[in-house]
Amino acid sequence: MLTRIAVLASGGGSNLQGILDYLDSLGSGARAGVALVASDRVAAGALDRARVHGIEARALSDTERVTTLDALLAASAIDMVVLAGYLRLVPPDVTRRYRGRILNVHPALLPAFGGPGMYGARVHQAVLDSGVRLSGPTVHFVDDEYDRGPIIAQWPVAVYHDDTAESLGRRVLAAEHSLYPRVVHAVAAGAVTLDDDGRVRGAFDRAGPECHFALSIAPPLEGVESVLAHPR
Ligand code: GRF
Repeated sequence: MLTRIAVLASGGGSNLQGILDYLDSLGSGARAGVALVASDRVAAGALDRARVHGIEARALSDTERVTTLDALLAASAIDMVVLAGYLRLVPPDVTRRYRGRILNVHPALLPAFGGPGMYGARVHQAVLDSGVRLSGPTVHFVDDEYDRGPIIAQWPVAVYHDDTAESLGRRVLAAEHSLYPRVVHAVAAGAVTLDDDGRVRGAFDRAGPECHFALSIAPPLEGVESVLAHPR
């Protein structure tokens, strides 16, 4: 049976689109489908993308977002929750019920450059201000706090000396579009799990040191499977 995914998004929804396109590309090999897209913003582009795809699109009232989200997800028989640019804190009853089945993508290498208020261009500007030479998306399980849950996968993106928040953000977003759908599918298919101690488990547990090498030399939009095979 297909894993029924709900995507929560506040903005344009390019990551939602990446997930839809990737699942489509898997054809009958897809183990998951997006059954619901919900947003705290009625004008979110993500809702339009869902409608174009024939997926139920729902603008959440404040009450739904804070108090009844869990019931709303249950009513749509949702198995897994994917945050894709969702700027609100997910209520604890939802993060607890979906523990190990709720994911987020953040546009920097956590645990740095995350937390409340760290979204959009602010993240990339903080990366530039810090002087680090490497950034890139992080995909992690979600818990009760912003950007804090166990990390599943990261993708390195170089920071250039002449980067602006915008140019860096574009490069990181391109990497997100490649990485996030694959991690979403791996979790949906049960290939990556969260154990009771909060450790991420998956096929990468058995990967050898060559995966470190593959991670450091692979071009940004190829070889993403090697990230999933990267031992933590
Ligand atoms: C992405 O940069 C993601 O990392 C962050 O929010 C942004 C969403 O972009 N959580 P989009 O709406 O998917 O285009």
